Amino acid sequence: MDSKGSIMSDLSSIKPVVEAKSLIKTFGRVVGLNSANLELYPGEVLAVIGDNGAGKSTLIKCISGAETPDSGQILIDGEEVSFKSSLDARAFGIETVYQTLAVAPALDIASNLYLGREKRKSGILGSVFRKLDHSGMRTTAKEQMTKLGIGTLQDMSQAVETLSGGQRQAVSVARAEAFGSKVVILDEPTAALGVRESNQVLKMIELMRDRGLPIILISHNMPPVSEAADRIHVQRLGRRAAVVTPQTQTMNDAVAIMTGALKVDEKDQALGPVRVPATA
Ligand SMILES: Nc1ncnc2c1ncn2[C@@H]1O[C@H](COP(=O)(O)OP(=O)(O)OP(=O)(O)O)[C@@H](O)[C@H]1O
Ligand SMILES: [Mg+2]
Repeated sequence: MDSKGSIMSDLSSIKPVVEAKSLIKTFGRVVGLNSANLELYPGEVLAVIGDNGAGKSTLIKCISGAETPDSGQILIDGEEVSFKSSLDARAFGIETVYQTLAVAPALDIASNLYLGREKRKSGILGSVFRKLDHSGMRTTAKEQMTKLGIGTLQDMSQAVETLSGGQRQAVSVARAEAFGSKVVILDEPTAALGVRESNQVLKMIELMRDRGLPIILISHNMPPVSEAADRIHVQRLGRRAAVVTPQTQTMNDAVAIMTGALKVDEKDQALGPVRVPATA
């Protein structure tokens, strides 16, 4: 058996952490997802690439509870789930950094990090009077930022609306890193970032992967995708066109599938690296 075959058989014996089956999502007459599938396996970084409007964000929004598919199934660890909101998904340990960042601009960095999971003061002040432990949250927020190598954020009481775009992105990724216990989903985390900040985010992705967290990384930027990803899901016209791996296919092949220049047989879409004819 060749190496591709062995990867495929390895994967077929492992249960996906996340599985999306035949998802359909329409917005009026616009088809966002047209029977889309996705599998995320334990410990892997799955990149999702595709042209603008291919349905990448819609796909992950269905998985993270931000959108509800019209039909199809979502399974977490093999169990079907039906998330009504992203809070439902967060309760399952699925943390998402959305392309359009979901931060509370007027709140400070520490409050954004703990949004929806605020720490209360100890004793009666917290339990009866529900007082928030602001200083405790700022201290751990600072520790979290330092751990992730985000040195440019010094004052955790700074309002997020005063941060640069890249710094805001860093806060969102840090939140996902802190609370994602099952899956972390990042939608274009480096799109708005400079080289230095992009590298920081990629380092965070490495840290999360080292912790064994599976990650879905949506990205247009090929270098980070080919470096960080174990497998690459190519989304086209609302569905998966192929899954390739950086080891077995070139990025040119992946882009050719993405644009439709290279057609992949339907039966090759399901698992692992697909066979792609050599490009000239
Ligand atoms: N809330 C919405 N209302 C109407 N149409 C929508 C909505 N959300 C997505 N769509 C449409 O669904 C399709 C898929 O959009 P989606 O945002 O998933 O694409 P994408 O692959 O993430 O693109 P990009 O690379 O530009 O982020 C597009 O045609 C888009 O216009
Ligand atoms: Mg998108």
